[in-house]
Amino acid sequence: MADFKGSTIYQIYPKSFCDSDGDGIGDIRGIISRLDYIKSLGVDYIWSTPFFLSPQKDNGYDVEDYRRVNPQFGTMEDVEELIEKAGERGMGLMFDMVFNHTSTRHEWFQRALSGEKKYMDYYIFRDGDPQAPPTNWQSKFGGPAWEYVPSLRKWYLHLFDVTQADLNWNNPEVRNELKDVLRFWKEKGVKGFRFDVVNLISKPEVFEDDMEGDGRRFYSDGPRVHEFLKELTADSGIGDMVTVGEMSSTSLEHCIRYTDPAEHELSMCFSFHHLKVDYKNGNKWELAKPDYRRLKELLMTWQRKMAEHNGWNALFWCNHDQPRIVSRLGDTDRYWKESAKMLGTCIHLLRGTPYIFQGEELGMTNPGYNKIEEYRDVESINYYHIMLQEGKTEEEALEVLRQRSRDNGRSPMQWNSGEYAGFSNREPWIGIPANHTFINVEDEDGDPDSILNYYRKLTALRKRYPIIQEGMIEFLYEDQEEVFAYRRTRNGQELIVLNNFFGKEVTLQKELSHAGYRRLIGNYPQEDSGTMLRTLRPYESIAFIKE
Ligand code: GLC
Repeated sequence: MADFKGSTIYQIYPKSFCDSDGDGIGDIRGIISRLDYIKSLGVDYIWSTPFFLSPQKDNGYDVEDYRRVNPQFGTMEDVEELIEKAGERGMGLMFDMVFNHTSTRHEWFQRALSGEKKYMDYYIFRDGDPQAPPTNWQSKFGGPAWEYVPSLRKWYLHLFDVTQADLNWNNPEVRNELKDVLRFWKEKGVKGFRFDVVNLISKPEVFEDDMEGDGRRFYSDGPRVHEFLKELTADSGIGDMVTVGEMSSTSLEHCIRYTDPAEHELSMCFSFHHLKVDYKNGNKWELAKPDYRRLKELLMTWQRKMAEHNGWNALFWCNHDQPRIVSRLGDTDRYWKESAKMLGTCIHLLRGTPYIFQGEELGMTNPGYNKIEEYRDVESINYYHIMLQEGKTEEEALEVLRQRSRDNGRSPMQWNSGEYAGFSNREPWIGIPANHTFINVEDEDGDPDSILNYYRKLTALRKRYPIIQEGMIEFLYEDQEEVFAYRRTRNGQELIVLNNFFGKEVTLQKELSHAGYRRLIGNYPQEDSGTMLRTLRPYESIAFIKE
């Protein structure tokens, strides 16, 4: 079994990481050139989002061929070299498997379109009136989830973009094809996999209209999903590798089953409830202030229940679909450094496997694009138009995008303060935030007080103290909204972690004695305040250990 419990995982979005050949788009050789940097973060695995052959309608999540490298990103030799050179540095690669759907440019779909029965059964085609889709389900990128093909007189299902056709997992041939893809990459030396929206793979027997929502209740954690995952893992021989499933609108009960080792499904899951606490009535495109009580409640419940039932959480704030956490829950002006470090501490000392998304370790912020022309993401552009149709003004819609667009996480990695942030030597495919002049690897590397060096401490602590990996967890100051605090315990050792989510000083409901404990890490200079802690400074984070 891979040691995923003691590991930290670094996520790379290749298009925005490092451009080695001067075309303004990041590539595999760019990643290779930065392996020493990644190693310096103390991470064990690198998860790269897809670089496979793809028309790039959804930046590679629309795969045309699972075994070929998109020339934009490099060659198969480059990928092999990446795996090898990361391996020499003690890091394993995790590749991103988009198995819920393929691009409509995939050979399977093309053959289905030409009427080959075998391949039509690889997808979800339904008869129906050309004017009336089989159900009223909505695509997650906006608009109907069905597309009509006049030549076949059938509709096909696409839960995402119209160019991302859902695969028919009920067909064993489809499942076998996908197992082959896993074997192919395993043989190349890949050490793990991230499975894209994998809890959507099992569709219901009967397709019916959803009168309450967009259809997701019928196919999220669908009827055969656990069976399919068990089979996929067992038959493709990946049971001893590190695996993470991206779970869309999932439940705690299902995530326990996905990750309980006795079930032989996955190592861990990404769930997103804690990243919806600033949605208004669950709607991403309506802004609301973060509900800190709800955030705490979710983190606490998932921590407790996963521990009780042998499940395992992936711990994360950021990825290529999320706005930057410091812009979201922190303060990018007055307390940029403090709040970024606090958010890091909060996640990294919990029970689970932490993920760092490229640039998070620098405290990168949302880029603040001002014009719709600056956006590249299909979801953002679709919803911009939907918001206008629904009556928002252009300025209002742009403000929503500035806070909610997936492009917030996709601006180029900030390597230095130079013209193109050291990402490329020409205008990149997506704009660079002005703040790269001071938020960048080069400046932070040499600064002992930087966010970057703080993240390096966090990963080192996890390696050094098994209590962080495996300790039991209980929560402190449960009903104090501003404070997220917990105690971890293991073999007589204790670790106490306190985080102030607010940009103001808070007085603890009950003062905390840390007599007999040592300060392990904190985001403010150490103060000699005796053995009692009464207040936390704005966004303060502090951890004590008793060995
Ligand atoms: C996942 C990916 C996202 C993609 C979607 C469809 O949510 O993270 O980027 O658009 O799946 O594949």
